[in-house]
Amino acid sequence: MAEEAQISFGGKTYDFPVVEGTENELAIDIKALRSATGLITLDPGFKNTGSCESAITFLDGEKGILRYRGYPIEELAEKADFLEVAYLLIFGELPNTQELEKFHSDIKAESHVDEEMKKILDGFPKSAHPMGVLSSLTSALIAFNPSSVDVTSEADLYHAIVRLLAKFPVLVSWTLRKKMGLPLDYGDDSLGYVQNIHKMMFKRPNREYEINDTVIEALDKLLILHGDHEQNCSTSTVRIVGSSHAGLFASISAGISALWGPLHGGANMAVLQMLEAIQADDGDTKKYMAKAKDKNDPFRLMGFGHRVYKNFDPRARIIKKAADEVLAQLGVDDPILNIAKGLEKEALEDPYFVERKLYPNVDFYSGIIYRALGIPVDMFTVMFALGRLPGWIAQYREMRLKNEPIGRPRQVYVGENKRSFVPLNKR
Ligand code: SDX
Repeated sequence: MAEEAQISFGGKTYDFPVVEGTENELAIDIKALRSATGLITLDPGFKNTGSCESAITFLDGEKGILRYRGYPIEELAEKADFLEVAYLLIFGELPNTQELEKFHSDIKAESHVDEEMKKILDGFPKSAHPMGVLSSLTSALIAFNPSSVDVTSEADLYHAIVRLLAKFPVLVSWTLRKKMGLPLDYGDDSLGYVQNIHKMMFKRPNREYEINDTVIEALDKLLILHGDHEQNCSTSTVRIVGSSHAGLFASISAGISALWGPLHGGANMAVLQMLEAIQADDGDTKKYMAKAKDKNDPFRLMGFGHRVYKNFDPRARIIKKAADEVLAQLGVDDPILNIAKGLEKEALEDPYFVERKLYPNVDFYSGIIYRALGIPVDMFTVMFALGRLPGWIAQYREMRLKNEPIGRPRQVYVGENKRSFVPLNKR
């Protein structure tokens, strides 16, 4: 049993248990804090606050470690495929052949999306942001799958999970195809999970679809690398919405909206826009570095920094290597990649970034690969959501199966003291 923590306040000393995690992480258990001391804690952004105990993902920000259910991300990215990793994240173990085949066939059995959903899609202008379309369509799925709303049994939850893993890629495909003015597609159940995703997104009505293994492998790896990331902003959103016993689809729809923000998943789009602006500015990286360091300038170096990683984001290392490989295999010479590498080198040598331990994160290089794969910039965060879906599902499932309490933080009130109403004619 780890030692206890003590808080002294008002002439008294209070003991609180310390919880120790599998990797020796320590947390003060303050469940009894308010009842014992009358105190609450205050921690904007929850920088020091653990919301739950979870067995899904472990990351060590100081050492740059990321593991899904104990498996290092480097091994999974190299040796597994995305559907295997989705199974691992959600159910806790790597599937054997039979389990993986059943999982995939259960998903394929649910890959139809009701034709009526197209009427909702039709209501959006082509200029609509894909993340807003995807969040709305995901929420709209509820109306067409009512039995997946109030999941009280593990069997119901499994059914909702395979339904979402089946239909979400169709919604991603429809979101892209609507933007590009292409007829909507339902995919091909004879293909692998990621092959089918790519075909649904890119098949052209007037020509044969050819599978490019380099492209599929790159997409599969990117989806794995985005699979889960413990209690980040969008995952915490999924958990807190789900903690009211809102259904899986509604909780994931909320998570998509949280991911949209440029400080979170929206950063991969913002990185490409930043790199293109630097390119248009004759590659003047120094100007953008200066803006990023200027406290009076809201501009931040997108793709840099992280709430937890105070070392290299291991995913950024893998993606940077993959960017070189994929662009070479595809014969793509993208000057943006060289601008990114130059910017990274400058930032890693700049005292402002070094002192604040700001390193490239998952979003810094991912957009360069997405672009090489022909994915439009404003779809980059949708691709992040596609990769993060199994992680969100895993976290929702863990929270519901543990029957966690509804999330309801406290606050410190700093408004007006009690005062009496003033009639309108006296104000
Ligand atoms: C993701 O949480 C996750 O796990 C998220 C994610 C996942 O997989 O789910 O990893 C995915 O969201 C990656 C992050 C993508 N966002 C960006 O790339 C946007 C740019 N980065 C920043 O906005 C920032 O680094 C955050 C939001 C990522 C983290 O912000 P924190 O932890 O709240 O840190 P902070 O804002 O308090 O910054 C600390 C200092 C400040 O300077 P000082 O006040 O100490 O002088 O570092 C500075 C900040 O101004 N700083 C930056 C910077 N990031 C932090 N300065 C310039 N450029 C940056 N990018």
